[in-house]
Amino acid sequence: KLDKLSVAIDGPAGAGKSTVAKQVANRLNLVYIDTGAMYRAVTLKALRGEVDLDRQEELTGLARQSRIDLVGATPQRVFLDGEDVTEEIRTPEVSRSVSLVAMVPGVREVLVEQQRRLAEETGVVMDGRDIGTVVLPRAQAKFFLTASAEERARRRAKELMDKGYTIDITALTEEIRERDQLDSNRTVSPLVPAGDAIIIDSSGMTVEEVVHRIVAEIKQGEL
Ligand code: CDP
Ligand code: CDP
Repeated sequence: KLDKLSVAIDGPAGAGKSTVAKQVANRLNLVYIDTGAMYRAVTLKALRGEVDLDRQEELTGLARQSRIDLVGATPQRVFLDGEDVTEEIRTPEVSRSVSLVAMVPGVREVLVEQQRRLAEETGVVMDGRDIGTVVLPRAQAKFFLTASAEERARRRAKELMDKGYTIDITALTEEIRERDQLDSNRTVSPLVPAGDAIIIDSSGMTVEEVVHRIVAEIKQGEL
């Protein structure tokens, strides 16, 4: 029965969605799907093509013409039109622009349709901003993962420093706040917990504790 399960994990940047979602998928034998990576891939394509980020129709066309493949789980590799862009979609440049691209209704329509198709094929743990509300409103288990903005910025800073970037923590915190603002206040599919989502504040929790909690909730729901 677990193999046709859909698990939705939404929340703001740096809450731990992808880290936790991968491990939950692993434990329950489900396929992990990183929907943020899809928005990032379209953003990368727009930046490369020097498309103005307020040209909504062009961005929608770009999304429609993109082939995005998510391959494997740890690490999940992201392919854009056959090219491995796993690292490139995480650059600060893409992070700064992605919320503008994700605001475009046409872009969302194209990507949401692909996401639903993926979830029809197999049991999934899908992470993003609108999975429980829009993409998979009938998911059997929904979680809204959050943490204080400071804690989320600290986590993201550590990740980036481990990759060799020099970090200005004040600027990073500001950037995360800005992205949360854009994501929470946009007209289409804003970042908001689904009415039936379990809200988990992971400030002060370890990854292991969050994973444990989520798996326990899912198993309890199965009984
Ligand atoms: O990993 P991080 O939390 O930084 O972001 P992400 O999950 O890679 O998502 C990047 C951006 O894509 C978000 O800030 C949203 O603007 C957008 N996004 C979205 O609008 N809807 C989703 N389901 C997933 C991501
Ligand atoms: O996907 P999202 O942007 O929500 O977060 P992420 O990319 O999974 O990054 C979260 C970072 O915080 C990772 O480096 C985790 O190891 C760390 N972390 C966590 O995810 N959960 C905790 N409870 C504590 C730390």
